[in-house]
Amino acid sequence: MHPERKHLGAGLLIGIIVTLLALLLIALTVAYTGAYNVAASRDHTAGVHWLLDTTMRSSVRSRAPEVADTQWLARADVAAGAGEYKAMCEHCHGGPGADPAEWSRGMLPRPPLLVEEADEWEPGEVFWIVKHGLKYTGMPSFGETHDDATLWNIAAFVERLPAMTPEQYRAFGPAHAHGPQKASDPHGGAAPAGAPHAHGAASEQAPADPHDAPHEHGPDSAEDHH
Ligand code: HEC
Repeated sequence: MHPERKHLGAGLLIGIIVTLLALLLIALTVAYTGAYNVAASRDHTAGVHWLLDTTMRSSVRSRAPEVADTQWLARADVAAGAGEYKAMCEHCHGGPGADPAEWSRGMLPRPPLLVEEADEWEPGEVFWIVKHGLKYTGMPSFGETHDDATLWNIAAFVERLPAMTPEQYRAFGPAHAHGPQKASDPHGGAAPAGAPHAHGAASEQAPADPHDAPHEHGPDSAEDHH
């Protein structure tokens, strides 16, 4: 090799290494100093929002199955999908004439109202999102607990949401009750009135170890564990 070229090659290599070290230093500084604000109460800056949203959309698009490749959608049971949706999705994403739960409005990103957003997604993409979830957003993955047929039922139902009236949504009936005992269904299908409010209801059978007990608000909780 020509000696001058050799010189240039070595300089380039050193430049790359120094740049990489500088980037590593910046990453470590951000990680250890608390410079980045992780609060969910403040929206992302426009640049970070664009980066996260574009990454998410490209990732889903490149991994989702083409519906044309599957027979699932044609066979989907939309009514069954409606029951699953009302049990597992409505509290975050709402529905026609159904508001999402209050607490979900404090999430970042805020779960979109699918009545408005579902148009943007192909059925195969909805299926993929529901099966695998979306990292760092709070969108859970349901693939561990639900088979593909159930997930396609949900995707088929979600695709119909934008054109659905509140009456049609209501006509699909109540949330799907999982398991044989409807009354104690954690999805809340036919839970006794007042039950969801009983956050500290375990007081009747308080565990021996106070650290295992649910946190109770009120004067008793002032007790000091030392
Ligand atoms: C705990 C709240 C929560 C639950 C429960 C939940 N999701 Fe999500 N979902 C989210 C969040 C947060 C996002 C991410 C939004 C973003 O990236 O902007 C999301 C994104 C999505 C998207 C992509 C929409 C978009 O435009 O970003 C779809 C489709 C979706 N969810 C469907 C479902 C379905 C169907 C269910 C029920 C099986 C469900 N979700 C349950 C919180 C939830």
